[in-house]
Amino acid sequence: MKITVIGAGNVGATTAQRIAYQELAQEVVLVDVAEGIPQGKALDMYETMPVVGSDTRLVGTNTYEETANSDIVIITAGLARKPGMSRDDLLATNAKIVKSCAEQAVAVSPNAFFIIVSNPLDVMTYVALKATGLPKNKVIGMAGVLDAARYRAFISMELNVSVEDINAFVLGGHGDSMVPLPRFTTVAGIPISELMSQERIDAIVHRTRNGGIEIVNHLKTGSAYYAPSASAVLMAESIIKNKNRILPCAIMLEGEYKLNNVVCGVPVKLGKNGVEQVVQITLSDAEQAELNASAADVSENIAKLSALGIF
Ligand code: 2OP
Repeated sequence: MKITVIGAGNVGATTAQRIAYQELAQEVVLVDVAEGIPQGKALDMYETMPVVGSDTRLVGTNTYEETANSDIVIITAGLARKPGMSRDDLLATNAKIVKSCAEQAVAVSPNAFFIIVSNPLDVMTYVALKATGLPKNKVIGMAGVLDAARYRAFISMELNVSVEDINAFVLGGHGDSMVPLPRFTTVAGIPISELMSQERIDAIVHRTRNGGIEIVNHLKTGSAYYAPSASAVLMAESIIKNKNRILPCAIMLEGEYKLNNVVCGVPVKLGKNGVEQVVQITLSDAEQAELNASAADVSENIAKLSALGIF
C-alpha cells in the first residue's frame, strides 16, 4: 500500500503522520510546491517511526515521479480560510491548484483512489473527478465524517456521554447549508429527541454548521486540521481494509437523493472498490428541501468553474 498526500501544510502533514502512526501504508509520499517543506516534514516523521514502532517509510518531494503507482492519493493542497472568509472565497485559487495536482497525480497513478480534502470541498471533489477522468466511485470528498464528528462531539459535551455511543448523520454540502439530521441521530440507540429539548438540538445543529469557522476564529491564521485529517484517514482505512464502513462522503450524484450532476454529501459504503454503494434513506419533505438547498449552493459554485476557465 502506497499513499500520496498532496499538500504539506497542517492538514496534509497531520494526515501523513496519522497514516504512518497507524501503519496503514508501507510508503507515504508527501508532496508540496514549497521547496524543503515536504522533505523536512517527511524526514522528521520518518525519524519518529522507531519511537512509535511503525515501518511506514515517508518521502517528501516537490515533484510527482515519486508518487507513481500510489493506491490512494489524498489532496489537501490549497489555501485555508482566515477569519471573515467563507469556504467559497477559496474557489478560484483552489480550483486551479486542485486541478493541477489531480492531473499530475493521476498521470502516474492511474489506478488510485482519490480522497479530496481541499475547500470548498464539494466543488473541489467535482474538479478532481473531472481532472482525473476517473469513475465516480474512486473520487471521494471528505466532509461528512468531519461534520458528523463535530456534531457527535457537541452532543457528548451536552449529555456528558461517551462519543463512542453517539451515532450521527450529516448530509449535504460542506458549507453553511449542510444538513445535520437529528432524526437519524441516536445515543446508544436512543433517539436524541428523547434526551434533549428541541431548543438544545437546534443549538447543536447550528454550532455544527459553524464548526469550521469556530476553529478559524480561534486560530486566526488558518483552519482546523486535527479532525479533518483524522476524518480523511478514517475513509482511507475503510478502503484499504475493505471495512465497508458507512460514512457520509461527498460524491458525484446521478439521480441518488433526487440530485443530478452535483457533488454532495450522502451516506456511502466505503470498501475495496471505493464507493461500493450509496445508502438511500427516505427523507421527509423538509429534510429533502434542506438537502436540495445545500446542493443548489454547490451547483452554483460548480457553474462558476467555466467562467473561471477551469473547465
Ligand atoms: C473545516 O470545516 C477546514 O473545512 C474545514 O474545518
